[in-house]
Amino acid sequence: MDRKMIIAPSVLSMDYSRMAEQLKEIEESDAEWLHFDVMDGHFVPNLTFGPDILKGFRKASDLFLDVHVMIDRPLFFAEKFLSAGADNYTFHYEAVPEEGELRRLAGLVRSHGKSVGISIKPDTHVSVLKPYLDLFDVFLIMSVEPGFGGQKFIPESLDKIRTLRGWLDEASLNAHIEVDGGINETTAKLVRSAGADVLVAGSFVFKQNIREAVKQLA
Ligand code: DX5
Ligand code: ZN
Repeated sequence: MDRKMIIAPSVLSMDYSRMAEQLKEIEESDAEWLHFDVMDGHFVPNLTFGPDILKGFRKASDLFLDVHVMIDRPLFFAEKFLSAGADNYTFHYEAVPEEGELRRLAGLVRSHGKSVGISIKPDTHVSVLKPYLDLFDVFLIMSVEPGFGGQKFIPESLDKIRTLRGWLDEASLNAHIEVDGGINETTAKLVRSAGADVLVAGSFVFKQNIREAVKQLA
């Protein structure tokens, strides 16, 4: 089935000395989402931004704000990011493996009328997601080890995407499968045919003409 691709440039790779200019270029491109990588220096060995910076992006842009939290305490921060303007809130399975808390967090985000996502790292088996297929609007498959932009795509991610899309189709669920890490014009085609419909791209988009780069991925 040919899915419409959604492109989500990751602000992690932005040139922070030219943010307003680059945000305008994204707005003028075919990108529909803005991927916002939140890192706490514990869950991943990097530190990025919090809800206050998201508020700035919310004021400056109408793009769908796709927040990806790579943090130890996604339940504690959920409502802070939602009130800061997140349209989607994706947390990591590895940070909330206890089923009750995972279900509570998914329910909390949806109770705010927002989209909720769950992400798994490359070493986490896709089967951990099977009990939760109807709980989430977005399944974020990490195709690099989370923490940094500019890494190489991990090809084993393709099997996870195929398996997950098979389960979702079997259950007649049309949640998004979003792929994050090492996406360029070549890997975009591979993940698309495996069943992904949302592509995160950081370095590929911000290291060249943004509009052109987004076009090459869509
Ligand atoms: C990594 C982040 C990704 C990253 C993607 O932990 O979750 O969103 O910014 O960057 P590229 O596209 O350069 O791999
Ligand atoms: Zn991300």
